[in-house]
Amino acid sequence: MCGIVGYLGNKNTKEILLEGLKELEYRGYDSAGIAVLQDNDFESFKAVGKLINLEEKTKDFITDKFAVGIGHTRWATHGKPTELNAHPHLGNSSYVVHNGIIENYAKLKKELMDEGVVFLSQTDTEVIVHQFEKNLKSAANPFEAFGKTVKELEGAFAILLVTKEEEKTIFFAKQGSPMLVGINAENEKYFASSDTPLIGHCSDVNYFEDGDYGYVTADEIFILDKMDNQKQPHFSKLTQNKLSAQKDGYRFFMEKEIYEQTTVIADTLMGRLGVEEILFDELENGLFDGINEIKLCACGTSYHSALSATYLFERYSKIKTSVEVASEFRYREPIMSKDTLFVVISQSGETADTLETLKMAKNAGLKTLVICNVDNSSMVRLADASILTRAGIEKGVASTKAFATQVTVFWMLSLYIAKLRGSLEAGEIARQITLLREIPVCVKVADSMHEKIKRLSKRYLHGHGFFFIGRDIFYPLALEGALKLKEISYLHAEGYPSGEMKHGPIALADPELFTIALLPQHLLYEKAKSNVEELSARDSTICAISPLEFDKADDFIQISTCQDYMQEFFEMMVVIQLLALEISIRLGNDVDMPRNLAKSVTVE
Ligand code: M6R
Repeated sequence: MCGIVGYLGNKNTKEILLEGLKELEYRGYDSAGIAVLQDNDFESFKAVGKLINLEEKTKDFITDKFAVGIGHTRWATHGKPTELNAHPHLGNSSYVVHNGIIENYAKLKKELMDEGVVFLSQTDTEVIVHQFEKNLKSAANPFEAFGKTVKELEGAFAILLVTKEEEKTIFFAKQGSPMLVGINAENEKYFASSDTPLIGHCSDVNYFEDGDYGYVTADEIFILDKMDNQKQPHFSKLTQNKLSAQKDGYRFFMEKEIYEQTTVIADTLMGRLGVEEILFDELENGLFDGINEIKLCACGTSYHSALSATYLFERYSKIKTSVEVASEFRYREPIMSKDTLFVVISQSGETADTLETLKMAKNAGLKTLVICNVDNSSMVRLADASILTRAGIEKGVASTKAFATQVTVFWMLSLYIAKLRGSLEAGEIARQITLLREIPVCVKVADSMHEKIKRLSKRYLHGHGFFFIGRDIFYPLALEGALKLKEISYLHAEGYPSGEMKHGPIALADPELFTIALLPQHLLYEKAKSNVEELSARDSTICAISPLEFDKADDFIQISTCQDYMQEFFEMMVVIQLLALEISIRLGNDVDMPRNLAKSVTVE
C-alpha cells in the first residue's frame, strides 16, 4: 500500500527520501516519486515499477544544501500505475503527496475543471494541490489556504504539501491514515507514514492524531487539532529496532496481517462499489461474451478461496463453475472447451503449478483471468485479464489477508457477472453491495474477542486431531481453518463438510478429538447444528463458533449477530485465524516462518 516520506534539513535530501521509501517497500507499491524544493526551485522525478527505476532517474540530481522534500510509493487505486498518476502531484508552484482516499474528489475536481484547472492524472490526490492553489488566491498566507483546503476534504488522508510560496516549510495533515514527524539534535524534521524510515535518523517522534494539521520549519512544529486549537507535539522515544518497527508492535507479521484485514479489504473495495453494480474498470467489456462455464484453479489457501467462489458463482451468477487443485489439473489431461473462462488465483502470482495451468489454458485457446495480489507477477503478465486484490505485501507464510481479499474479490465478481447475466435483481445486487461495504467492520479484531481466544487456546495444545467442519461456503472456510492450524502449530487438522462426518470420520470421535464447528445463523443452521450434536453425543470436544448460543459445546466463541451469512463468513474467518495464531504462539513455534514451508512455491 502507499507510503509517504518527507524531509526538511541540510543533509542530502534526495538520498534521505529514497532511503526512506526503500524502508516502506515492504508495504508494496507500483510507482514512486519525489519532489525537492531548494533555492526556491523545484525538481521532481517519478518512475513506474521498483525504486531502482527512480534511483536511475535521479542519479544526476544533487541536493547539497538546505531543502524540503517529499516522497511517495503508490499502490494504484484511482487510475493505473503510470508516471502521470504517481505522486507527488504538481499544481503551479506546489507539490503534494497523499495516502488514503479523498471521497469527494469527483465533486471538487468538477468544480476546479469548470474554473479552468487542467488535471494531468486520474487520481483523487491531484485535487488537493489544485484546491490549495485556488484557496491561496484569497487567503492571507499559505497556511490559511492549506487549513481551508484540509477542511474541504472528505475521506481518509495523510498529506504532505510543499510550495514555493513558503519555501522553507512542509505542510501536513492527518485524518484516518497514519503519519508521524521525527526530530533530532540537528534540527532536521523527518516525516513518514510509519516508523521505519525514521529509525537511525531521529531520536524522538510525534504520532499525529486524526484531525491534526499544521506545518514544520527548521525551528518550529506547529499543530492545530480539528477544532483549530493549537496543541504541543507529544514526543516519544523511537525504537531503534527496524524489524519490530515493521511489525508495528505486533508479535508476528501474521498477527499484524490479521489486524490489517479491515484496511486492506477497504482498499480492495475502493472504487469498485457502485449503487447497483460492481465496477471492475480493469475488465474489458466482452470478457464474458460466449462464456458458459468458469473453471478455477489454484493451490493451498488460494484454492480455498476459489472453492468459496464456486458457491457464490453458482448461487448468484447462475453460471456453471468448478474448481481444481492446480497440481492435479496439470497432469490429468483435462478437457478444456472454449466457452470456459479459466481463472487462476494466486497471492504471489508465481506458484509453479498454478502458472502451468494458466499456460495450458492459454495454449488451449481459453480466455483467462487471474485474481492476484502482485502486479507484474508472471501470472498477471500472462493472463488475458487480471484483478488485483490489493492486500499489500503479505509476509507471514500462513496466508491471512490475501485470503480475505481474494474472497472479497470473488464476492464482487459474482455480483458483477450476475449483473451481466441478469441473474440477480438490481435490488438484490444493491443489498449485497451494502453488505460488502460493512465487511471492513466485520473483520475488525475486537480486543475482547482476541483475549478470549488467547485464553481458550491453552486447551487445544494436544489431542489426536482437529476437525474443522462447516456446510456450504463454510466448508472451504473449514478447510482454511484446518490449513492455518496445521501450517503453524504442526498439529493434525482436517477440514470436512459437516454432513460428511457420519460417513467415516466420526469414528475418530472421543474427548481428545477437537471439533471446531462453524455454525452460521443465516445458512443451514439447523442442519449444521445436528451434525455437531452427533459429534457431541460421541464425546468429541466441541468448540462452536456462532452468533447463537449453543449448549452442546464445550467452548463457545460468539461472533456478532449479522444480517447475512457472508458477513458471518468474514467474522468466523478472523476467529479461526486468531485461534491458529494463539495455539502456535503457546506451542513456541515460529509463526511467521513455519518449518518446511516457503512463502512462494515456485517449484512443482
Ligand atoms: O501464492 P499462492 O496464492 O499461489 O500460493 C498458494 C499456496 O502456496 C499458499 O496459499 C499456501 O497454501 C499458504 N502457505 C497458505 O497459508
